[in-house]
Amino acid sequence: MSDIEFSSVTKTYPDGTTAVHDLNLHIESGSFTVFVGPSGCGKTTSMRMINRMVVPTAGAVTVAGQDISRTSAVRLRLGIGYVIQSGGLLPHRTVLDNVATVPVLRGQSRREARHAALEVLDRVGLDRALAQRYPAQLSGGQQQRVGVARALAADPPILLMDEPFSAVDPVVRTELQNEMQRLQSELHKTIVFVTHDIDEAIKLGDRVAVFGPGGRLQQYDRPQRVLSQPATDFVAGFVGRDRGYRELSFRTADAVPLHDIPTVTADQLTGVRLDKGEWRLIVDQDRRPVGWIDTTGLEGIRAGRALADCVAAGGSLFPPDGDLRHALDSAISSPSEIGVAVDDSGAVRGGVLASEVIAQLSRQRTAEDEERNRAFFEAEAR
Ligand SMILES: Nc1ncnc2c1ncn2[C@@H]1O[C@H](COP(=O)(O)OP(=O)(O)OP(=O)(O)O)[C@@H](O)[C@H]1O
Ligand SMILES: [Mg+2]
Repeated sequence: MSDIEFSSVTKTYPDGTTAVHDLNLHIESGSFTVFVGPSGCGKTTSMRMINRMVVPTAGAVTVAGQDISRTSAVRLRLGIGYVIQSGGLLPHRTVLDNVATVPVLRGQSRREARHAALEVLDRVGLDRALAQRYPAQLSGGQQQRVGVARALAADPPILLMDEPFSAVDPVVRTELQNEMQRLQSELHKTIVFVTHDIDEAIKLGDRVAVFGPGGRLQQYDRPQRVLSQPATDFVAGFVGRDRGYRELSFRTADAVPLHDIPTVTADQLTGVRLDKGEWRLIVDQDRRPVGWIDTTGLEGIRAGRALADCVAAGGSLFPPDGDLRHALDSAISSPSEIGVAVDDSGAVRGGVLASEVIAQLSRQRTAEDEERNRAFFEAEAR
């Protein structure tokens, strides 16, 4: 077990800044906990009190039931992986030696440690061919993966990650987030992850701790509840924009109706007749969507213009395991206002309409209200 517990923890720096105020928090072993909040609200300070890089002014932190102020800092840190925004890699050491650092410190032979390091590279999705490079010869995303590999190399039960993905572009960031989810489903570490991005917090966290001004914890809850029932005005403001839209991502889209969509391949286009305002979905030989075309586009084709100049880019695709957020997004981002659902191979399954997604949301809410009422009256009757 590697639970982490903050009991009435306060940190005031020597200059008088109170970075964390009376923090009480129990982090369950094997959970993925995200600390989120605006800059300067004490996330990093709180995290660093777990590995004793920062010592509390008052209160106690326990790890696996042990008051960490009474354990050796070195021993404590060997059981805690730490990943920071810049990767924190040693510039003059190869990728392989960076990853092998902690196992070597723990007494493994260099040979063994390097061998194990190669396997950790596989685990985080890095090509072994990169093992002999130096950090400066990697992309930002690759460096972050090495940082994660290094933290995992000694197989510590606890992983601390301080804004590990905030310096990479959004596409790479999404990849790294997905990778973290996959890793955690295999490893079941106790992970504490800091971010100021509420979307990242909601996506990754089993539990989200929202910090506010003066280092005061505002809410510690499941992500869905942070969105649906913000505990304070601060939290409501922080998660505020797009809150309802985000909450859609927790709702199943199984019951959203899929309609047949008339499709056409590019070489059949000259035979197509459309009414004004009507759209037709162009697909490739494998029925994968290419884009939409309307009467204006067809006129362009007949005038001999290139297909690419006549097609309207499609909206987002509604994936097989998609939720209501995906469904709605695919509908409202589509030029035809019909969202395209695809199967695992990317082939068209059917079309979704925004109005039907909203209707589905409303049905789910009604069912939940009825369930709540029933539970309430049953409790009353007892
Ligand atoms: N060593 C220090 N000495 C004095 N004040 C500090 C020190 N480290 C942090 N602080 C202050 O403590 C407060 C909390 O800082 P902390 O780094 O924990 O915030 P954070 O939530 O991680 O912010 P960010 O999102 O910008 O990383 C801030 O006001 C900061 O200026
Ligand atoms: Mg910080």
